[in-house]
Amino acid sequence: MRVLRVSLSRYNPPLRRHRSTVAATPSEIPILGHSYPTDSYTNITPTIVSKLSRRLHAQDGHPISTLRSLIENHFPDYAHLSSLSPVVTPYQNFDSLSFPADHPGRSKTDSYYINKDVMLRTHTSAHEVDVFTSGEARWLLTADVYRRDEIDASHYPVFHQMEGANIFGTDDASVGAVERDIQRLERQLAESNIEIQDVQHITATNPAQPSHDPRHSEIAARHLKLSLNSLMYELFAGVGGATKENPLQVRWIEAYFPFTSPSYEVEVFFRGKWLEILGCGVVLQSTLDRSNVANKMGWAFGLGLERIAMILYSIPDIRLFWSEDMRFLSQFTSGKISTFKPYSKYPASYRDVSFWQPDNGIHDNDVYDLVRDVAGDLAEDVAVIDRFTHPKTKRHSTAFRVNYRSMDRSLVNEEVNALQDQVVSRLKEQLRVEIR
Ligand code: DAH
Repeated sequence: MRVLRVSLSRYNPPLRRHRSTVAATPSEIPILGHSYPTDSYTNITPTIVSKLSRRLHAQDGHPISTLRSLIENHFPDYAHLSSLSPVVTPYQNFDSLSFPADHPGRSKTDSYYINKDVMLRTHTSAHEVDVFTSGEARWLLTADVYRRDEIDASHYPVFHQMEGANIFGTDDASVGAVERDIQRLERQLAESNIEIQDVQHITATNPAQPSHDPRHSEIAARHLKLSLNSLMYELFAGVGGATKENPLQVRWIEAYFPFTSPSYEVEVFFRGKWLEILGCGVVLQSTLDRSNVANKMGWAFGLGLERIAMILYSIPDIRLFWSEDMRFLSQFTSGKISTFKPYSKYPASYRDVSFWQPDNGIHDNDVYDLVRDVAGDLAEDVAVIDRFTHPKTKRHSTAFRVNYRSMDRSLVNEEVNALQDQVVSRLKEQLRVEIR
């Protein structure tokens, strides 16, 4: 539940002086070799800054890197990009893609801002205009992306996405080349053990763009669908196997994104469950106009690498990707998907904290970031276990349960108590709550 959105970050303690263990607001923060001034938007935390240089997608043998190279190999004639800085402007992340001014993704409670003019990209789509402007017509881009979020086995404030795009000219020769590629992909898929539940390419609720010839829009959508069906087959049938009797099942669903029309989502049935894999669609012409390629049109997709890697490698907890423990890292060979063997599951211990919110309220994401800043990856999971409004005073109370567990060792009680004590004192000092 997202109610009141007031963010008091570690870099923005209240002005009133109080005895505090919280570092004072630095006037500048160093990030990837640059120094950025802070302001009332600053909400990036030291834990997040420490992730910016990890580049898991470029670490040879790491599952995220192997998955990237498998996808890159599937699109051999596309440009493969993976070194763009995570520091972008809100214009790149939102406006260049025609996000509305009031889109919730822009809020400080959902995204990490260095200051009001620079932020950490929340998706790889942030680079679409830059890459199209640079002249690439077919490309894949892999990068770390950042979102303020809850904490559990499948949510982490940093994860990796891969963006792919293909644009083509609308002259007969260029469209003809796309049509020939459609035929090639159709032949290839006809010989594969894949079963596709399709949706209509274009409908009243998922329309072609007014500036597009509907025939071209249809061709772009068909090429998009075939290209991605072929990728899904490569990834999932490669690991799970697929036979005539048990084909790989892929399902297409009508979707909405601010920067594509028509838009779709893709789901794959794998080990008994439908899994959401990616979002995609025909690129909004305004994006291509901004990129000085108004004479072209085409499609784009964005997929989350952790989600796919967790499934293909049977990795049960998203924190494991960040492990530097050799029992994790040494299990994997570059270029090969293998099944993760858990080395052990150490016991969890949980601690609860309930508090009255300050008058201006706080956002759950402020609590999640605070816990991560204190406990790092020792915080396995943080959940709201109770919300309550006092009938007379109308004050709001929230109770959180923090589950502490290490991936590599047993935590002793004293250590967990010390972490929880720090969480409690920071809740009081930074977020001004009153512990119940
Ligand atoms: N950027 C979207 C996200 O992070 C995913 C996405 C959807 C990318 C549609 C695309 C696209 O390129 O066409 O949720």
